[in-house]
Amino acid sequence: MPSGRRSRPVPWVSPQVPHRLYSPMPAAATAAAIGPHPLPTRFALSPMADFTSWPLRLLAQEFGAAFSCTEMVKAKFVAQRHPETLKILARHPAERLVGGQICGADETELAEAARVLVGELGFPFVDFNLACPIRRVVSDGAGGGLLAHPEKVERLVRVLVAAAAPAPVTVKMRSGLDESSITAVEVARAAEAGGAALIALHPRTVRQGYGGKADHGVVAAVKQAVRVPMVGGGDMRSPADAVRLLAESGCDLVYFARSATGDPWIFHRARARLDTGAEPPPPGEAEVRAVFRRHVAMLIEHLGERDACLHARRLAREYMGRLPEDRAAGFYEALKRVETLAEVEAALGGRERR
Ligand SMILES: Cc1cc2nc3c(=O)[nH]c(=O)nc-3n(C[C@H](O)[C@H](O)[C@H](O)COP(=O)(O)O)c2cc1C
Repeated sequence: MPSGRRSRPVPWVSPQVPHRLYSPMPAAATAAAIGPHPLPTRFALSPMADFTSWPLRLLAQEFGAAFSCTEMVKAKFVAQRHPETLKILARHPAERLVGGQICGADETELAEAARVLVGELGFPFVDFNLACPIRRVVSDGAGGGLLAHPEKVERLVRVLVAAAAPAPVTVKMRSGLDESSITAVEVARAAEAGGAALIALHPRTVRQGYGGKADHGVVAAVKQAVRVPMVGGGDMRSPADAVRLLAESGCDLVYFARSATGDPWIFHRARARLDTGAEPPPPGEAEVRAVFRRHVAMLIEHLGERDACLHARRLAREYMGRLPEDRAAGFYEALKRVETLAEVEAALGGRERR
């Protein structure tokens, strides 16, 4: 089982989300793959600090995400087998295609981190972060700081590919450092030359952080510049946004990030929209509560009761968007101060309501 085991069992962990609406759909298989791993759909869960631990990743997988990545961790701490870092990297045995995402700019640390991720932790692939806008990371020449140095990107990717082999290495990048330095095409080509198996782009600059607008024109430019599969993203608020980005940029897959934190159903809706042109009806209130409950139960398993409940407050704000307007505020009000499992249970009204 994953690390972070809790001391007492959570009785209402159901083995899986109710699948009555989410049985596999036909078609939608893509030609894209990450190395030897075929990607069954064209939508994936983008890495997010604090959010994409195994509980959300597992839900996303069950609702049809093709793959996901851990949140970014520093290669140095992976190489040192830092206990906190290893906890962040915990996976659930039922997870399939998850990349361990690392940042760094030191060849020795990156190589050792890749060996730990693949050889010791069993990750099926390694994702190299060239996107992080945090000042400390950028000023170390790592994350988004590497966008100014395509030649270094090629060298580091080559080192990672050699260390991770036979597992593939993917790259997640931004458009460039700022609007006067859009280097996405050069960096993507460099990553491909270094042996990257897939390139994902968040088309904002480092300077933009998470503000302003994503420039989806850069997704199209990168797609044209590389032969490996390409994932576009940025401001994907709905399945319609994602299907439009696939059509307009030609990218192979789309990453959902913020819109998926309280809406794992988005992967199923996106796939349905792409396959049939229509989306299934939204989940009913009982299902939203059941999935939220299971999400919290898994978080308790991962983080322990107190930290999981603190995170559940944030999640409640995200999940409330899935409820009819007249029910959403009450749902959030009931959950916004929970500290214990018993309080979560009480707020959700006991066992599953139908
Ligand atoms: C809270 C938060 C944490 C994030 N953490 C990471 C991360 O650890 N690694 C990464 O590559 N991107 C990270 N991102 C960026 C997202 O993966 C994604 O590229 C970005 O949010 C754009 O997608 P969106 O506009 O659909 O949210 C993070 C984003 C948010 C909002």
